[in-house]
Amino acid sequence: MIKLSNLNQGIPYLLFKQKYDDAVNAEQKNIEAISISSYENKANEVDSRYVNLKFIINDEFIFFSNYASPKASAFNSHNQISALLYWSNINTQIRIKAKIKKTSDEFNQKYFSDRSKEKNALAISSSQSNLIDSYFQVKENYNKILKNADLRKCPDFWGGYSFTPYYFEFWEGHESRLNKREVYKKSDDIWEHFILQP
Ligand SMILES: Cc1cc2nc3c(=O)[nH]c(=O)nc-3n(C[C@H](O)[C@H](O)[C@H](O)COP(=O)(O)O)c2cc1C
Repeated sequence: MIKLSNLNQGIPYLLFKQKYDDAVNAEQKNIEAISISSYENKANEVDSRYVNLKFIINDEFIFFSNYASPKASAFNSHNQISALLYWSNINTQIRIKAKIKKTSDEFNQKYFSDRSKEKNALAISSSQSNLIDSYFQVKENYNKILKNADLRKCPDFWGGYSFTPYYFEFWEGHESRLNKREVYKKSDDIWEHFILQP
């Protein structure tokens, strides 16, 4: 589940909540899964991966990851991302463009200490996306950390990312491909509204 709190009252946020509630009521599986696409300057490459969207606090969408991972270096080199959700049970796609930044150390520490020790052991033990000799080695590293490390203390290489959308597109699938597409684009603090052809 995504935790929504103190939600921004702008129209696209209210529409997001309406769609989210519909997806919850329709028992959407993997409702938190959101694809994040980034651009890495040095490699001149675009890449995408799913993460779990954990919070929307006011106008900030928040997920957690490793601050030394490839995605982190991409965000560092180019802080503009696109995010994509598809909730199949309500046949709705939401496309987002945003600027991304890290969440605060205090926020990370609070979230980390509320998580299970197993999740934290994995976060501490993994140099995310680095090469390793075997999956056996992955398990060894994990078990060692699970037994020996302080599993309440958030390491400085792990924490949240927050992005604040400046563009939303809500796509609703309809019969005969008469799909409905609505865009909200922020311009000078005003949400402009557009309808797109299917
Ligand atoms: C449904 C789903 C949810 C995921 N959630 C996260 C997440 O919240 N944080 C994360 O770091 N990786 C998550 N992953 C793994 C990422 O997709 C990715 O493999 C990992 O973050 C490394 O990405 P990078 O090499 O681009 O940094 C998830 C994968 C899937 C399939």
